[in-house]
Amino acid sequence: MKNKPARQQGAQTTAIHAGEAARHGVSAPVDTPIVRSSTFTFPNTREMRRWAEGKSKAYIYTRYGNPTLAVAEAKIAALEGTEAAVVTASGMAAISSALLAVLKAGDEVISTAQLYGGTYRLMRDILTDLGIRTRLVEADLAGIADCLSPRTKALYVETPTNPTLRLVDLRKAAAFAKQHGLVSMIDNTFATPLLQQPAALGYDLVVHSATKYLGGHSDLIAGAVAGSRKWIARVRTMIISLGGSMDPQTAHLLIRGIRTLGVRVERQCANALTVAKFLERHPKVARVHYPGLASHPDHALAKKQMRGFGSMLAFDLKGGLPAASRFCDRVRLFLLAASLGGVESLVVLPIYTSHYNMSQEELRRAGVSPGTVRVSVGLEDAADLIADLRQALA
Ligand SMILES: Cc1ncc(COP(=O)(O)O)c(C=O)c1O
Repeated sequence: MKNKPARQQGAQTTAIHAGEAARHGVSAPVDTPIVRSSTFTFPNTREMRRWAEGKSKAYIYTRYGNPTLAVAEAKIAALEGTEAAVVTASGMAAISSALLAVLKAGDEVISTAQLYGGTYRLMRDILTDLGIRTRLVEADLAGIADCLSPRTKALYVETPTNPTLRLVDLRKAAAFAKQHGLVSMIDNTFATPLLQQPAALGYDLVVHSATKYLGGHSDLIAGAVAGSRKWIARVRTMIISLGGSMDPQTAHLLIRGIRTLGVRVERQCANALTVAKFLERHPKVARVHYPGLASHPDHALAKKQMRGFGSMLAFDLKGGLPAASRFCDRVRLFLLAASLGGVESLVVLPIYTSHYNMSQEELRRAGVSPGTVRVSVGLEDAADLIADLRQALA
């Protein structure tokens, strides 16, 4: 695995400046221009032939690459500390293209059972039909060696997990993958590269729903894959063939969002801890799932492998689903909406959103109970968030 050493500058400096070197000079625009063109000219057929022969890096067509997309890609690669990155039309385009770049019919992938529901359904329904088998392990990786077969090609993990915020031991999973020659893949959406940089620990491919924290404003759908130049070239080929490329307008919004990633994540982590502590003390709350709380089973691991505890949390109310529904119907400042990672705080019932269309047994394995409320904590003033939670729980 060849990845660049961890970034040289601070994370927030990297978020603002990486990939945007063209801003220096006389009358250079400070904001990266949106190159909307779907296609690009060649000066002559000789240059066209050179492109066809793989000898030129010229832009030809935006599905293959585009200067605005390239800035977003350079920023994400710099933040993740990887050689390269590719941006996509959605997180699921990133995940499906990355998995299909690694796996073919007859192969097997080991994945954590606690996963974003869309990724789980992709593995359960689509990959299975393509002849690719997924074997699930718990987030603590217990019994992972039993999932190995001569056909196992990849290990796919998500940490912290959606929605129960369990952690996978990043070093342990990477060491297992290395020992058995597996391609290691991780969904880093919840943590963001601000809180953990898996490539530095040996992960081959880091995927993101950039719709969430990277974009940060609930105004775009986007994805990204980061990794070595070799792996990203393979993923890009898959994206070009499947068509999950990003639109330049979205890339511009994504670049703008990433520029404030550091300050947003810092404030959101602080807000989330305040919210988690408030909920933990509330008499109607049975359990809070937040890695920043000492009561969380993975608190020690979170302190070891993350630079902050993130701003996603979940909680169970003593009254189960009726109480959870009542709470969600009563919030005023928190919005009742799927997704996460934006500036505004959101609540959601995972059984009706990310984890719909799953059996009781699948929900049990994913750690989702019907009364689980998932919370994405935003950047509002913490006192206002607490006041809203208090009135909604009353
Ligand atoms: C952890 C995680 N990964 C991937 C995705 C899929 O991303 P997108 O909705 O951008 O396709 C989501 C969406 O909620 C997610 O939460």
